[in-house]
Amino acid sequence: MINEKLEKAFNDQINAELYSEYFYLSMVAYFERMNLQGFKNWMNVQVQEEHAHAMGMFDYLQERGGKVTLQTIEAPKADWESPLEVFEDVLKHEQLVTSKINSLTDVADEVKDRAAVSFLDWYIKEQVEEEANVGNVLKTLKLICNDANCLYMLDKELAARTFVAPVIG
Ligand code: FEO
Repeated sequence: MINEKLEKAFNDQINAELYSEYFYLSMVAYFERMNLQGFKNWMNVQVQEEHAHAMGMFDYLQERGGKVTLQTIEAPKADWESPLEVFEDVLKHEQLVTSKINSLTDVADEVKDRAAVSFLDWYIKEQVEEEANVGNVLKTLKLICNDANCLYMLDKELAARTFVAPVIG
């Protein structure tokens, strides 16, 4: 049986992952409006990854005999000035998620749940990758991409991203 405080912390993180899915889905809609199909594809993969992150915790909590309690998902922002602003928001958001995963791991540590600490190790590593991926796109947008041609080239590159279902835990 899972500790009650840890169960709540897992439920809060499931909500944060589902919010991430919702936030990025709003960006998918933005890129569709902009007719940037490669950016839209990249963000769609992000949406699927966030869903997988939420479901990984959803399944784990139940496997541990905990109760999944879904919470209200906050409405995300719907408009951006530019792709650059979108990716600045994504990086900020991923940094916030990293701090939330760290706090969740702190709770698991505090209640001495070694199995949960070990499970969360996957998420800690995943956040390093997430921040690096977003950081790379942001760097290109910031340092190199200040004309429409570059945006067009980057759009082509981002079209190549594909979703690979993660093996969590
Ligand atoms: Fe689920 Fe992008 O962190």
